[in-house]
Amino acid sequence: METQIEQLWQLASDLQAKNAQELEAHRIGLLGKKGKITELFEAFKQVSAEEKKMWGQKLNALKKLAETKIEALKSQLQDGTTKTENVLDLTKPAPLALGSTHPLRKVRQEIVDIFRHIGFSVSEGPEIDDDWHVFSALNFPADHPARDMQDTFFMESLGGKDDLLLRTHTSSVQVRLMESQALPIRALCPGRVFRNEAISTRSHCMFHQIEGLYIDENVSFADMKQTLSYFTTAFFGKSQIRLRPSYFPFTEPSAEMDVYWGLNSEADYRITKGTGWLEIMGCGMVDPNVLEASGIDSKKYTGFAFGMGIERIAMLRYQITDIRQFFENDKRILHQFV
Ligand code: DAH
Repeated sequence: METQIEQLWQLASDLQAKNAQELEAHRIGLLGKKGKITELFEAFKQVSAEEKKMWGQKLNALKKLAETKIEALKSQLQDGTTKTENVLDLTKPAPLALGSTHPLRKVRQEIVDIFRHIGFSVSEGPEIDDDWHVFSALNFPADHPARDMQDTFFMESLGGKDDLLLRTHTSSVQVRLMESQALPIRALCPGRVFRNEAISTRSHCMFHQIEGLYIDENVSFADMKQTLSYFTTAFFGKSQIRLRPSYFPFTEPSAEMDVYWGLNSEADYRITKGTGWLEIMGCGMVDPNVLEASGIDSKKYTGFAFGMGIERIAMLRYQITDIRQFFENDKRILHQFV
């Protein structure tokens, strides 16, 4: 009986069937009225009482194995799959396509890494902010036309400085830092900003900015120029910059920083409008009124700040001409930035 059980065990384990008829023939051959396993159960009746328990267990296990195997083959045939197709092939390439980092995220990370080297840390602030942090503390007087420079999405009128709005620039995070952190402050504040502008190839209602702030004793305009030139060298490989006088309520003096891009190709003529220079960011020395509004002694401390649009920098880096491409999530475009 032992060898018979062993042989049938092997047979049942290796059972294969190409179609339903073949499977049925196997079933009858093993478990039918005259099947091999059924016959063994007949023979089992002759076994001595002492051996009944052992053989009984083995026979039942064999019957169970044959039944399970036949059931499994049956459902495989119904699924239309064969046994070999069902086997897991660990050498097959994974079917999942890997994602890629969004170009805006990549550029943001590169900028952050460059400034990290010179001691800047990263801080973030709320996207829904109040009038105080976005405008008033940044020296925008109430009803001053400078507020019209930025087309604000207002959310809730809670009265003057408490009005809630979507921040129009990341300069609001400067205020939060100056109010809450010990000096010196050396921080970068990246994030989303919102402006009620018509969407076109060059503007979008939501875009990203990165703000920089450095406040300490004896921080000078020369420090700012040196820091910004270090940045353009590290990011664009171009060190020649110029600072053109400009106006922002929160800096005095204020400037626009241009980088000398060069005129080496037709594209350079196009993007620099034939001048060779490209405007990269706004910057300036933090206005003493802004320091005082946040409780910083403007006689003791000075600082500089700068702010740039991440989309603009990414468009230059990757020669993208339409800002909307960053937001359409077209995989054919996104996968080019692995
Ligand atoms: N907040 C300005 C904007 O959104 C950018 C800016 C200009 C930020 C000068 C600054 C700065 O920190 O000093 O246009």
